[in-house]
Amino acid sequence: MNHQGREQWKTKIGFIIAASGSAIGLGNIWRFPYMTGMNGGGAFVVVYLLCIVFIGLPLLITELKIGRMTQRSPIAAFRALKGKKSPSQLMGWLVLVSGFMMLSFYSVVGGWSLEYILKSFLSVFVSKSPQTIYDMFGELYSNPAKNLLWHTCFMLTCMAVVVAGVQRGIERWTEILMGILLVLILVMVGRGLTSPGAAEGIRFVFSPDFSKLTPGAILEALGHAFFTLSLAMGIMITYGSYLDDKADIPRFSFWVATVDTGVALLACLMIFPIVFSYGFEAQAGPGLVFKTLPVVFSQMPMGMFFSTVFFFLLFFAAVTSGISILEPVVRAAMDGLGWQRKTATLILGFSVLLVGVPSALSGSTLASLKLLGERNFFDSVDYLVTNWFFPLGSLAVAIFIGWFMSEKLLQSEFVKGSKVGKYFPVWLFVVRYVSPVGMMLIFLNIVGFFKLF
Ligand code: PFF
Repeated sequence: MNHQGREQWKTKIGFIIAASGSAIGLGNIWRFPYMTGMNGGGAFVVVYLLCIVFIGLPLLITELKIGRMTQRSPIAAFRALKGKKSPSQLMGWLVLVSGFMMLSFYSVVGGWSLEYILKSFLSVFVSKSPQTIYDMFGELYSNPAKNLLWHTCFMLTCMAVVVAGVQRGIERWTEILMGILLVLILVMVGRGLTSPGAAEGIRFVFSPDFSKLTPGAILEALGHAFFTLSLAMGIMITYGSYLDDKADIPRFSFWVATVDTGVALLACLMIFPIVFSYGFEAQAGPGLVFKTLPVVFSQMPMGMFFSTVFFFLLFFAAVTSGISILEPVVRAAMDGLGWQRKTATLILGFSVLLVGVPSALSGSTLASLKLLGERNFFDSVDYLVTNWFFPLGSLAVAIFIGWFMSEKLLQSEFVKGSKVGKYFPVWLFVVRYVSPVGMMLIFLNIVGFFKLF
C-alpha cells in the first residue's frame, strides 16, 4: 500500500509480468497468427512491428502515466486531470464500458479452449477425418450448455484471481501462469522448429514480400497493435495506478511491448511450421487455431499431448488477459462507490457473466436474434467493441493527452523515475500527431468513409 492506502505492485518485475500477461492473450496466439496468415506473412509482421514501436508503445506509456500520475482508476483519473465539470470523465466511462463488454465475449472464446483441452486430453481428435474435426467447432458453437458451462468456468477463474487483490491475486497468479505459459510455448516452438515444415514456416513469418501488402492490412496491423497491448480499455491506466514515482515507465513499457511481441512471433513459429509440415494452408482465418490446428495435431505423433499443451497455453494466456479486463471495472467501483474488493468482484464478475450469456448462446438458442444488421449477439458486441469503442477510445485518449493537457505537466511526469526522459519530444510528437491520424484512418475506414478492406 502507498501513502494513500492504495494497493501497489510488490515488485517491478511483478508489474512487468502482470502487464505482459494482460498484453499476451488470445490476440497473440489466436488472432495474430491468423491475421499474419491471411495478410501474406512477413510484410504484415514488419508493418505490425512498426505500429508497435511508433504508435502502440508511446500510448502504452501514456496510459500507464495517467494511472500513476493520478493514482486513480479511469473515470476518476480523467476527472482528476481536468476537473469535475470536464466531459473528459466520459472517456473513463467509454474505456470501462468497452472493457466490460469485451470481457463478456472474450470469456466465451477463452472458454472454448477449455473444451479443446478436454477433447485433446480424451484424444477425441485421433483418427477422425479433417471434416469431422472441423465440424466439432461448429458443434461446440451451437451447443448452448457447453458454451454456458465454459463461459462460467472462465469468468469464475478470473473472479477468483481478482478477488484476492493486486499482490496476492493478480501479481502472484500472473507470475505463476506466465511462467507455465513460457515453458509450454518453448515446448511447442521446439516441436514446430523440428518439424519438416520449419524452414517454410520461418520463411513465411520472417521474409517480407511487400507486394502482398494491401492498404487494408496496414490498418489491420495498427488496430491489432492497440488490441494486443491492451490499450483503450482502462487496463493500463489501472495497472499504472499501482505504480509509485520510482517506476521507470518508459522502460517498463518497452519490456512489456517486447515480451508481448516476442510471444506473438513465437506463436507464429509454433503454428506455421506444423501447419506447413502437414500440407495445410496458412490462410485459414479465424478457424486456424480451433479447426486447422486440431486436424494437424490429430495427424502428428504424440499429437494429443501437444494439443493438450497448446490449448492449456491458450487458456492461461486468455485468463491473464481476462483478469486484467475485470480489474479496472472492479477498481472503479471500489474507488468510486467505496465498495469492498470482494463485493465489487462478485457483483461485477457476475454481471459480466450475465451480459456474456447471450454471446454464449449466439450459435444456438439465440442464433436467430439479430442485432446489428445480420449479426448475431456475439458478432454485434464484437463489432461494436472492436470497430467503434476501441478506436474511438484510443483516439480520445491520444487527443486528450496530446492536446488538452499542459505540456509542462506531461514533461515532468515523463521524466519522473525515468532514465530515458530525453525522448519526451519524440513521445509527444507521436501522441499528438501520429497516433490520432492513424486511429482516425482506421476509424474512417471502418465506418466506410473510404474503403480499404
Ligand atoms: N491484449 C489481449 C490479447 O492480445 O489477447 C486482449 C485484450 C485484453 C484486449 C484486454 C483488450 C483488453 F482490454
